[in-house]
Amino acid sequence: MAKKSKEPVLGDIIITEEQIAAKAVELGKEITEDYRGESVILLGILRGSIMWIAELMKRIELDTEIDFMACSSYGSGTKSSGRVKILKDLDSDITGRNVLIVEDIVDSGITLNYLKGYIENRGAASVRICTLLDKPDGRKVDIHVDYVGFTIENNFIVGYGLDYDQKYRNLPYICLMNEE
Ligand code: IMP
Ligand code: MG
Repeated sequence: MAKKSKEPVLGDIIITEEQIAAKAVELGKEITEDYRGESVILLGILRGSIMWIAELMKRIELDTEIDFMACSSYGSGTKSSGRVKILKDLDSDITGRNVLIVEDIVDSGITLNYLKGYIENRGAASVRICTLLDKPDGRKVDIHVDYVGFTIENNFIVGYGLDYDQKYRNLPYICLMNEE
């Protein structure tokens, strides 16, 4: 039987579950103060953001609703295809509403740049972005991210919702994916 070569393997844990929980408290407070007296729609981007939006929303003390969109810019590997396709659209009417996009990671910025424009064109009153992770070295388009959990180096990581070929999303921490 032919051996598969270069199959990536799990590496070191770079961010623990406790660190993420503490970050949700910190950013939740900041978001609560920034939107004081207003309501907000938390828009999670499937599937990577599920754990992060669940943790973060517990720490936001505002009148909130949630909605989800799914889009793809990555194929099945670790490289971005550079194109964004909407796989699941919004269910809510966001006209005149504050929308806070909740994302797992900003890498090239292509996905969020596209989504932010899309949400603005749908008539939102304001659109901001909250990401658990930011990889600024991967940036291909200039995009302002309002709330960043952790800034990390340009390595491929998995866990806490993030996948490699749909696997490892269930890991409760963020760890490196190494080429062996
Ligand atoms: P961008 O459009 O290049 O900013 O890509 C953002 C999307 O790519 C994220 O929502 C993730 O789904 C995926 N992505 C980017 N970097 C990683 C990574 O290191 N691990 C897992 N998924 C990633
Ligand atoms: Mg994603």
